[in-house]
Amino acid sequence: MTLPPVVTTPTDLERFRDDGVLGFVPTMGALHAGHGSLIRVAAAECDVAIVSIFVNPAQFDDPDDMERYPRRLELDRAFAGDAGATAIYAPNLETIYPAGHSTRVSISGITDRWEGADRPGHFDGVATVVTILLHQVRPDRSYFGEKDWQQLAMIRRMSRDLSLPGRIIGCPIVRDRDGLALSSRNARLSDEERAAALVIPHALGAMRHAATNGETRATTLISTGTSVVNREPMVQLAYLSIVDPETLEPVGTIQEGHRALIAARIGATRLIDTMDLTSAAESMVHYP
Ligand code: PAJ
Repeated sequence: MTLPPVVTTPTDLERFRDDGVLGFVPTMGALHAGHGSLIRVAAAECDVAIVSIFVNPAQFDDPDDMERYPRRLELDRAFAGDAGATAIYAPNLETIYPAGHSTRVSISGITDRWEGADRPGHFDGVATVVTILLHQVRPDRSYFGEKDWQQLAMIRRMSRDLSLPGRIIGCPIVRDRDGLALSSRNARLSDEERAAALVIPHALGAMRHAATNGETRATTLISTGTSVVNREPMVQLAYLSIVDPETLEPVGTIQEGHRALIAARIGATRLIDTMDLTSAAESMVHYP
């Protein structure tokens, strides 16, 4: 296996520009099979697959969270290479935020609730860095995970609103065999916390089961999910909602494509997950 080269400036990316369709997978590193699936799809659909690794200070609302974020470039490089990455784009802080940087990208509506309400400034930080990265990389296609559904919806919106380069493509959630959505934050859970965290996918599964068996009232479905989470005292629910997949507005009655969004805290770790409540096929991609 040849390790993909690590490049650090937009000028270094020029050498890939004439090689055909350019695919882009933005990440913050600590790569796992969730990222791996995005890279594999990008490599299969494009001639060149660039994976960026940049731990973006602007999107951390909690400095401790940023401090504890795992950094392991060489392992990530090998992992991305195995998944088919052509190159790693690992810019330094000044390449993304030049001295005096004072521009913020902010999307209203979609970001008002859920993660946006719980993590002030987070989505402005994501929107700003994704805008900068898309202008630097100028991909034909960019790949984002459905696990971060609100982030994906926001990026689709801003891509249209700002005519950002390339198409935005959403990829299904990759889960561990027992159903827990893969996340770089899972590594911080103790064995006991890891077991407790399973109430998150279980709650979503119970809601989907009820919805696909004819329950249409969002309040009833939310009570079903909440009672599953509350069975586990180690898990504190931040929110559990049912939303329109594009506007992220809460809904009263379930229709095709409506999704549950959940965030919960287990000790010091905050996890999120989501599921289409109207489709049994979705959200069950497992660790390869
Ligand atoms: P990060 O958390 O590293 O995630 C990078 C991409 O991987 C995101 O699009 C995310 O949705 C996707 N991903 C993470 N876990 C996944 C899983 N279990 N299944 C499928 N996809 C998964 O999201 C970010 O970084 C940052 O906000 C970023 C967009 C890079 C901007 O800094």
